[in-house]
Amino acid sequence: MPVEAYELVPPPAHAMIESLRGVGYSTEAAIADIVDNSIAARARNVRVQFHFAGPESWISVTDDGIGMSDADLRRAMTLGGTHPWTIRAEQDLGRFGLGLKTASFAQSRCLTVATKQAGQRFERRWDLDYIARPEINDWRLLPNGRPGTEKLFEALDGMTSGTIVLWQDLDRITAGMLANEPASEDAFLATAEKVGEHLGMVFHRFLNGPRPELQIWLNGQRVKPWDPFLENHPATEVTPVERVYSSHGVIELQGFVLPHKDRLTEQEASLAAGPEGWTAQQGFYVYRSRRMLVAGGWLGLGTPRVWTMEEPYKLARLSLEFPNSADKEWDIDVKKSIARPPRLLRRRLTDLADQVRSSAKQVFAHRGAYGRRAAVPDLQTAWIGRTTHGSTSYKINRDHPAVLRAVEESGGTAVEQLLRVVEETVPIQRIWLDTVENGEIQKEAFAEAATLEVADLARTTLWHLVTKVGLSRATALERLRRTEPFQNYPDLIDSIATEDKQ
Ligand SMILES: Nc1ncnc2c1ncn2[C@@H]1O[C@H](COP(=O)(O)OP(=O)(O)O)[C@@H](O)[C@H]1O
Ligand SMILES: [Mg+2]
Repeated sequence: MPVEAYELVPPPAHAMIESLRGVGYSTEAAIADIVDNSIAARARNVRVQFHFAGPESWISVTDDGIGMSDADLRRAMTLGGTHPWTIRAEQDLGRFGLGLKTASFAQSRCLTVATKQAGQRFERRWDLDYIARPEINDWRLLPNGRPGTEKLFEALDGMTSGTIVLWQDLDRITAGMLANEPASEDAFLATAEKVGEHLGMVFHRFLNGPRPELQIWLNGQRVKPWDPFLENHPATEVTPVERVYSSHGVIELQGFVLPHKDRLTEQEASLAAGPEGWTAQQGFYVYRSRRMLVAGGWLGLGTPRVWTMEEPYKLARLSLEFPNSADKEWDIDVKKSIARPPRLLRRRLTDLADQVRSSAKQVFAHRGAYGRRAAVPDLQTAWIGRTTHGSTSYKINRDHPAVLRAVEESGGTAVEQLLRVVEETVPIQRIWLDTVENGEIQKEAFAEAATLEVADLARTTLWHLVTKVGLSRATALERLRRTEPFQNYPDLIDSIATEDKQ
């Protein structure tokens, strides 16, 4: 084989690292990237420590994950040590093999990692002051932390496995700060607080529940999850989870209309608003393997014009979740702050968002029936929308009590045929156009009907459930409360419940 002529031109270490420092990581995004690695290492507890000492301040992240072997640690400290195309385990939140290094360099001039696996302990350090020396200026990874850091790694002694990431020389964070100056310490702790808020937001799906799979501690305090959807509030309206299947895995979509402020206490409202406030936190929340990447915004979608952040839509929030196997389609960036929906999905996202925005606008504008309506778990809807391979079809719910009754009383075939005709001819295009052009939102079910008509329908359905289906009266009433449109008429059902039981 002919030998080709070439020159080897490795980047000068010092200049390269200084440039990488400019990637523009905020402190909170940088720490979140370190925590990503802890989660990938299956940690149950992550302890973030912000220690103030003026220019000597340090930050550490300690996890009780699986730790690393000596070779693992060497690779972990290598820039691009893992190829971006490597297939990742499902819980792996990494991608480019850069996070640990770029996130750390952005905030600190000295990164030490100490790790323990199978009782063995290893350590490595990237020290920019050392690399910057003119006679060095090379990719020299040091074997130990700076002298005096030993006690900062003592936590590993009590663990069988785990990892500590230590940042020293926090030049960007502590610029102009003095030790023993209260104002400096306050500013440092304010940064810590912001980090806590951010972690509570991006990892909320891990921190949730009475027995969360992950706990994060910031200076000894538990980081509380921030749920953007007020999922457990009875007045939150929730659309069913929609799943879109692609060759890169399943995408899950769900819309939420948060409660009108009249239905929230002041404290609930200010908490639900989120770090950037109500208006800025509307729109899509994009999750990758349950880790939040994008916290609000409309992703450049919109019809007929691109949607912007506007007050009337501030109660609309949507959850969008994709697996790490779909990274390429979503264009994620090194800082994990950007994700763009694939073209094929945009139409579907626009449709659902449009629907959620309309409801959100109604709730925002007038309490009316919407304001009083509580979300009903397991609501038996009259229509069911199904999305497969990007196209949606709408079916009439055969389990709806009114449908069950009609099928039974007619002997079946005729009604089934009628339902098929209706399903196959839903004027979707027409409805869609009318909505876009007139901003017209379909009226609430039976909005113009006299309550008498609803009451009549409720009574007949109840009668059928009891005498034909064989439910107890109490169970049948419960079923009615969870059936469209009766969930909107709780008072009516209450009054029917007290009627003569014959
Ligand atoms: N806390 C940790 N525990 C165990 N392994 C870790 C930890 N942090 C980093 N690593 C290892 O270092 C590698 C490089 O991390 P990183 O630079 O963030 O890139 P990426 O997360 O994209 O792989 C990870 O893939 C993982 O193998
Ligand atoms: Mg990483």
